[in-house]
Amino acid sequence: MNSEAKCDKFTAINELARRRGYFWQSYEIYGGVSGFVTYGPLGAKLKQNIEAKLRELFVTKLGLLEIESSVITPGKVFEASGHVNHFKEPMVECLACNKRFRADHLLEEYAKQSCVETEKMSLKQIQKALEAHGIMCPECGGGFKPPQQFLTMFQTTIGPYSNATGYGRPEAAQGIFVEFNRLYAMAREKLPFGVIQIGHALRNEISPRQGLIRLREFTIADLEFFFDPEEPNCCLLKDVENETLRIYLAPERKACSEKIVEVTVKEAVAKQIIRSEWQAFFMAMAKKLLIEIGVPAENQRFIEKLPWEKAHYATQCFDQEVYVDRWGWIEVSGHAYRTDYDLDCHTKASGADLRVFKEYPEPIEQEQLVVKPVKAKLGPAFKGEAKKVAELLSNAPAEEVAASLEKDGYYMAENHKVLPEHVEVTHEKTVIRGKRFIPHVVEPSFGSDRLFYVALEYAYNVKDDRVVMGFPRAIAPTQLGVYPLVSKDGIDKKAREVHQQLLNEGFTAELDETGSIGRRYARADEAGVPLGITVDYDTLHDNSVTVRDRDSWRQVRTPIKSLPELLHKYFQGKLNFEDLGT
Ligand code: ATP
Ligand code: GLY
Repeated sequence: MNSEAKCDKFTAINELARRRGYFWQSYEIYGGVSGFVTYGPLGAKLKQNIEAKLRELFVTKLGLLEIESSVITPGKVFEASGHVNHFKEPMVECLACNKRFRADHLLEEYAKQSCVETEKMSLKQIQKALEAHGIMCPECGGGFKPPQQFLTMFQTTIGPYSNATGYGRPEAAQGIFVEFNRLYAMAREKLPFGVIQIGHALRNEISPRQGLIRLREFTIADLEFFFDPEEPNCCLLKDVENETLRIYLAPERKACSEKIVEVTVKEAVAKQIIRSEWQAFFMAMAKKLLIEIGVPAENQRFIEKLPWEKAHYATQCFDQEVYVDRWGWIEVSGHAYRTDYDLDCHTKASGADLRVFKEYPEPIEQEQLVVKPVKAKLGPAFKGEAKKVAELLSNAPAEEVAASLEKDGYYMAENHKVLPEHVEVTHEKTVIRGKRFIPHVVEPSFGSDRLFYVALEYAYNVKDDRVVMGFPRAIAPTQLGVYPLVSKDGIDKKAREVHQQLLNEGFTAELDETGSIGRRYARADEAGVPLGITVDYDTLHDNSVTVRDRDSWRQVRTPIKSLPELLHKYFQGKLNFEDLGT
């Protein structure tokens, strides 16, 4: 497809999306605002169905916990997590029209500078590269002020206090980390376990111009999977080990080679291409999800992030990408090995102990150095402060106290000088039953809106000048169309009965009585309705209906009484269209 055709397809999809109510830019009556969209009735249902697919694969089948936490988050949380320091993008402002742009994106777009390079550039280097390539403001041709870092989190105040900073969450993950202790208790204090959160995320993108791909408010699905780093094996790996992953590895990217390796999950783990087994498992599941929403395996790949591209919390990171006509490869999900980074940060910043206890198979007997305050001596020496000194001594590491007493002849408990006669230093045998540690985390993180866009683009087909949205049946916004051939002679009444019966069975079904039957089929094809049920004169005699297939336009005849069972099986993927006929 040439670039003009690609743009035409993109324009056609956007036109269809607006006209048929998949989605459109929000606040249109005020001129629209970039980065915000409204999903119409068809779109909202499609998005829910994609999220339901995600839940089916990742939540129900794996028994994960799902939570919902708040979007507005106290500043402390994102200070601790490192986002206040790191969640920034380089930005330039035009000297003439004052429009602002992502500096790295300008370089990628106008200087064809690969993103491998831009992400590691300093602001000075970006400025030099912009000048060297003569890049000017895309709006007015003006020059730029020096680039600066822009914090892409939305900042607000919580309540009427200007010092109570809050941020709109740019990821849902932190809502899980800060609740770790409760969630671990709910997981019956057993590792591994996973928690998912699907909800809105806010990112104050500098100049979003890619529709659903780059929004300022979007839906994120963050899955945090906690495991013991000393027991890193994935018990579910067998289920996916022969699945092939197409991976664009970091060394190939660095060398500007376009080579993609194809490895099975088993090989990827054995060769340490993917360092965590759980991460490999989730990457295979992510590939499956994309296939189920309509993206063939050959149009998917994973790219390994280079050290300077990785999020600040990740040791290894892959992006799952899908090829789309308009923009080439776009990221739909990120797969990060976050280690113990986040729980450790929150432990340090909040003072809450987010470690878990691991019991040893056999208790270990150890000789331990113990420093015991001698209360009879502390009283006269420290008077009213004696209790506090005793506490300080009990909490201090015994080795430190003993070493100080031996080296200096005293130990300073804050500003109290503790002498050897104030304490008793002994070696005692203790039984250690286990240890405390911070679990490790792997995270698959999906953007629903990007999943939605790729589902829309891959469903888009033109057949005999007619748009047919070929959504996989599991995600089609409307499952069934019900059509009376004519609106008279009792056919309309019968169609309404059939429609109601199908609704009662739990199907999403729409009754369409307006226009010729051909027009109605065309409308249904644009809405991606997999099956049409047409009620005609024969129905009045033999209680059967015509069932029409959206993709092949073939038709079969089926008794009304068999419809519920056959259709349930059809939408569960257990029957093909031909099986619906009798
Ligand atoms: P990009 O590099 O494209 O900005 P990212 O690496 O910042 O994306 P992540 O932080 O990994 O993205 O977010 C997880 C997922 O959330 C992405 O894979 C994507 O599907 C989605 N996502 C991220 N930013 C946006 C956005 N501005 N609009 C829509 N979806 C987004
Ligand atoms: N999860 C995206 C980020 O925090 O960088």
